[in-house]
Amino acid sequence: MYNSKITGLGYFVPENVVTNDDLAKVMDTNDEWIQERTGIKERRHVVKGGDTTTTMGVKAAKIAIERAGIDKDDIDFIVFATLSPDYYFPGPGVLVQRDLGIKTVGALDVRNQCSGFIYALSVADQYIKSGMYKNILVIGSELHSHGLDMTTRGRSVSVIFGDGAGAAVLSREEDTSKGVLSTHLHSEGQHAEELSLIAPGMGKRWVTDIIDENDPNDESYFPYMNGQFVFKNAVVRFSEVIMEGLKANDLTPADINMLVPHQANLRISQFIQKKFGLGDDQVFNNIMKYGNTTAASIPIALTEAWENGKIKEGDLVVLAAFGSGFTWGSAIIKW
Ligand code: UT7
Repeated sequence: MYNSKITGLGYFVPENVVTNDDLAKVMDTNDEWIQERTGIKERRHVVKGGDTTTTMGVKAAKIAIERAGIDKDDIDFIVFATLSPDYYFPGPGVLVQRDLGIKTVGALDVRNQCSGFIYALSVADQYIKSGMYKNILVIGSELHSHGLDMTTRGRSVSVIFGDGAGAAVLSREEDTSKGVLSTHLHSEGQHAEELSLIAPGMGKRWVTDIIDENDPNDESYFPYMNGQFVFKNAVVRFSEVIMEGLKANDLTPADINMLVPHQANLRISQFIQKKFGLGDDQVFNNIMKYGNTTAASIPIALTEAWENGKIKEGDLVVLAAFGSGFTWGSAIIKW
């Protein structure tokens, strides 16, 4: 019997900072509205011709591999979570295998949006627990900015999302009281269209380039979100899936040292914090700086929390996410 343990973490965000005031120059919005409703002050956007979902993932992965103290040739498997792949196919997993020069190991792409990193972690954890693999590279990366409607029409979605990547190396742990204790995954496809992008494929182009050539009124190339409906479901499902994970391990909210929620909206994190009676030092938030980076948000936040010394050996760390699908999940980790 083995457990899996996070042995290395890394993140990468593009240099280009886009403030709320910057957005107010191109659409009818303002800093006060965005901060009040979401907590976001700024986010990062890749400039045209710059990084891609894959290259950001590779940069985060290099840091995670180095911190894990292993060589790229020790990686047995790659799992890549994103909703914004460079190509419609193949997915970015194989591009990471190529760009990092890793030998011909398997590469799996996960398409679970905001819950993508939890799903990816869960898959990697099971491969390690079964004894099949020893070291797995798990990446969450997103390039939202090229695909957003940066006009007033798209403001309720476009102000929220940002670009970035996070990565973790999961390694075999022989002490089964440590590492990933359990993961819990759910879906409810009944609400698939409530947070969705119907038309495919953006690659290196800005989506507006494609639309201008065709029908400028076609909104199916832009993400759609029924914000209030998603918000209401998120607070319920976050709470449920955190409790499910704690109960499965005979734990209670009082046992949590650090909750790292998917950075969907600061109000959602604050709701969960209050509901579980957690202090400010028990919940990590960085949505203020990066916005919502979907599959990248948990590994970026987890890396920052760890770098800032907020996660220590022996801590109980809880990860939780909710998003498009709907899908949601949690991971209970003994650090
Ligand atoms: O990560 C995946 C999961 N995602 C989430 O969990 C997101 C969940 N939802 C939310 O975070 C919130 O619903 C939003 C932040 C997206 C929106 O906040 P809200 O409080 O639900 O606002 P709303 O959509 O009900 O809009 C309120 C008003 C509307 O105007 P009227 O109809 O009251 O005149 C909107 O047109 O705010 C307007 N509005 C804006 N105003 C300025 C919408 N977006 C903007 C904007 N700037 N960017």
